[in-house]
Amino acid sequence: MKKDQNALPPRLCELLLAWYDRNQRVLPWRENTDPYRVWVSEIMLQQTRVEAVIPYYERFLSTLPTVEALANADEQLLMKLWEGLGYYTRVRNLQKSARVICEQYGGVFPSTFEQIRSLPGIGDYTAGAISSIAFELPTPAVDGNVLRVLSRVTADDRNIDDAALKKEYTERLRAIYPVAKRGDFTQSLMELGAIVCLPNGEPKCSHCPLKSICQAHLQGREMELPVRTPKKSRKKQQMTVFLLKRGDSIALCKRSSVGLLSGMWEFPNTDGFLTRQQAEEWLRQRGVTLESLRSAGKAKHIFSHIEWDMKVWLAECNCLGKQFEIVTQRQLNDHVALPTAFGQLVPFLKKEGE
Ligand code: ADE
Ligand code: SF4
Repeated sequence: MKKDQNALPPRLCELLLAWYDRNQRVLPWRENTDPYRVWVSEIMLQQTRVEAVIPYYERFLSTLPTVEALANADEQLLMKLWEGLGYYTRVRNLQKSARVICEQYGGVFPSTFEQIRSLPGIGDYTAGAISSIAFELPTPAVDGNVLRVLSRVTADDRNIDDAALKKEYTERLRAIYPVAKRGDFTQSLMELGAIVCLPNGEPKCSHCPLKSICQAHLQGREMELPVRTPKKSRKKQQMTVFLLKRGDSIALCKRSSVGLLSGMWEFPNTDGFLTRQQAEEWLRQRGVTLESLRSAGKAKHIFSHIEWDMKVWLAECNCLGKQFEIVTQRQLNDHVALPTAFGQLVPFLKKEGE
């Protein structure tokens, strides 16, 4: 029977826990299991690598050390703390949840899986992680990394992108959760996937605590697993971005409240690559009068589903028009949260005559 064939090996827990005790990385969110700290780390780690998260995490926690501080934080400060991390909906949901916790739970972080799962921005994975790490509940957290490890351990050649598989493994894991160190068990699976059982045909089986029970390794098939649906290639979008300056003033606008980078600041831009003549016309229509217009070359930004190819124009202006928000260089640096797609262009503003 298929189900039994994919049962998890009984020694998985003890081997992983013993390995995790000795080999876990020292990470700031592992200093203690305060649910607020665990929660913030899990949200930051949802779509961002550990090394990138660490400095953001420390700054966020020292600026906003409690649920209450987060609930009351100024929006601009919040976005600035997240600037460069991407997927900004995460931080908006973080604050929404903090407000729910203050209003509905008296500021005390809820302690059941269902309550945690129902907070904005928290799905099955994150709810499982927080419940086990902060509250020692036997709640698995299964994402692509954990599925990779488990599909190799059981030499499961079904497609791990099939949502049914995630459910199945969640239940199989739930059945073998240890009676103690449940948070450690959750993190040991993540940790093995992060530093030993690596993706793209690079598992370090010779260093793996599971090598004696791992079916993929025992069968010499670790390079073939997991089976995945091939990724669709990213769409490319061409656009033209304008860096408009007048002395110390810089033009910005706000993105629409729906779609990619919704509600975030941006430099004025438009679809397609504009020639010099088209660029001049575009600016003229918006009431911008030019002193000079220089090409600042091209830039690229990769999102999960789309890639921006940006042609950048740098303009010294006599008038910035009335359409844009005007900020100073200093306001831009200290207070405005500019998504990385645009933030990477900020150095171009300084190049000329400064
Ligand atoms: N990725 C998601 N959660 C994590 C955690 N607690 N530690 C390390 N990597 C993670
Ligand atoms: Fe992954 Fe290799 Fe360990 Fe199996 S033995 S879990 S394939 S690293």
